[in-house]
Amino acid sequence: MPIFILFDLSVLILLVILLSSSSSVPAIANEEGDALYALRRAVKDPNNVLHSWDPTLVDPCTWFLVTCDSANRVTRLDLGNAKLSGNLVPELGKLQHLQYLELYMNNLVGPIPKEVGGLKSLLSLDLYHNNLTGPIPSSLSTLSNLRFLRLNSNRLTGRIPRELSKLGNLKILNVSNNDLCGTIPTSGTFSKFTEESFINNPRLEGPELMGFVRYNAGGRN
Ligand SMILES: *[C@@H]1O[C@H](CO)[C@@H](O)[C@H](O)[C@H]1NC(C)=O
Ligand SMILES: *[C@@H]1O[C@H](CO)[C@@H](O)[C@H](O)[C@H]1NC(C)=O
Repeated sequence: MPIFILFDLSVLILLVILLSSSSSVPAIANEEGDALYALRRAVKDPNNVLHSWDPTLVDPCTWFLVTCDSANRVTRLDLGNAKLSGNLVPELGKLQHLQYLELYMNNLVGPIPKEVGGLKSLLSLDLYHNNLTGPIPSSLSTLSNLRFLRLNSNRLTGRIPRELSKLGNLKILNVSNNDLCGTIPTSGTFSKFTEESFINNPRLEGPELMGFVRYNAGGRN
């Protein structure tokens, strides 16, 4: 019996040592690398811009087009105009210190993952000129630091979430050239923006936009 107790204790001590060492900071950095690697796996990359994205490195801070802060946490992803095609991945929501998510002018398809709304540090969300479908997630309304939200020139559908009116820091909003419907919200942050932010959504209506809808419809004849 005493031998068993001794054995159990040493196993327990070993476990405690293992657990405490695996919960140190580099594990968090790896989680961000894993999230980015999930994106690499989900997209086609004919120009090999993601070639340096090696998941065996301790963190993703040396990867091409990835920027980190001094604590080795990812703050920028600059993948605009990179000829990427494929889907966005929910794992992007794990990049808790990300400030710039630049994925404009690619050929991305599928929905904007609702998990993007978990990127609490985000200042700029640039997904314009892709082929994204589905609705604008209402979860984006929790991005309280967001300054630039450019979703124009995709194939987004549904209503513009009213909750986005809470984005008090928003300086640029562009959802033009999509297939959004309903009416343009006018409360909160929406009062700052003109028709230029919403043009070319044939099914979108709003008190300020009536003339524009008619103008666009006329322009097509
Ligand atoms: C979107 O898809 C259409 C048709 O599949 C294609 O012609 C167009 O080039 C795509 N746009 C972008 C920005 O990838
Ligand atoms: C939004 O983007 C479209 C092009 O897709 C452009 O014509 C329009 O001027 C932009 N609006 C704003 C407010 O930047």
